[in-house]
Amino acid sequence: MSVRLVLIVINAIAMAAVVAYVIVTLRATPEAGAAPNQTPFLSDEDLEGRRLERALGWALICSAVIAVSLPLYWLWEPTRQEKSIEYFDDGSVERGAVLYANKQSESYSNVNSLLCADCHGLDGAGGAAATNFTPPGGSTPIRVSWKAPALNTVLQRFSENEVRDIITYGRPGTPMQAWG
Ligand code: HEC
Repeated sequence: MSVRLVLIVINAIAMAAVVAYVIVTLRATPEAGAAPNQTPFLSDEDLEGRRLERALGWALICSAVIAVSLPLYWLWEPTRQEKSIEYFDDGSVERGAVLYANKQSESYSNVNSLLCADCHGLDGAGGAAATNFTPPGGSTPIRVSWKAPALNTVLQRFSENEVRDIITYGRPGTPMQAWG
């Protein structure tokens, strides 16, 4: 959240600067005078004296800045990547908690929550789903309590891809519906 806020503030400042620049340039009236290509420029003595030294000085400063900042950037890059992975992981966990939640959960949202917790348990340790089930060979459905597996251990039984498929397509014939 705070990263987003900082980016928004930087963008707002940049936009304000652009607007201010446009207003200032529009209001400035150009001075009437000879065209630049018709005015004599500085003499060689002037150009090759302090002016040249100043330009070379700036070039030296810029090179020094690049020489220091590039290795620093290179050193910091792995940390930056790790931090952004962590940042996106944290965001996924937060969104997942909202999706998983039911009314008893802290993260419950009456718009986004899918109520997984109703069957799989508040803490993901497993639960049960009351459902109507017609046994093979039977003709009348009976009321059963269908065991819903623990999800806090599901990644020890299945790979991430398998879990994604289970959630997307559900388990046909069981209370686990397709959520894709
Ligand atoms: C109506 C109750 C119910 C709800 C709601 C529900 N599930 Fe399930 N889920 C089940 C049942 C029952 C099973 C086991 C089905 C079976 O017997 O194979 C299951 C199985 C699973 C499995 C496979 C676990 C394993 O070890 O086999 C995953 C993963 C899963 N559910 C995730 C979710 C997620 C994520 C949600 C919310 C989006 C959700 N479920 C919502 C009842 C439910």
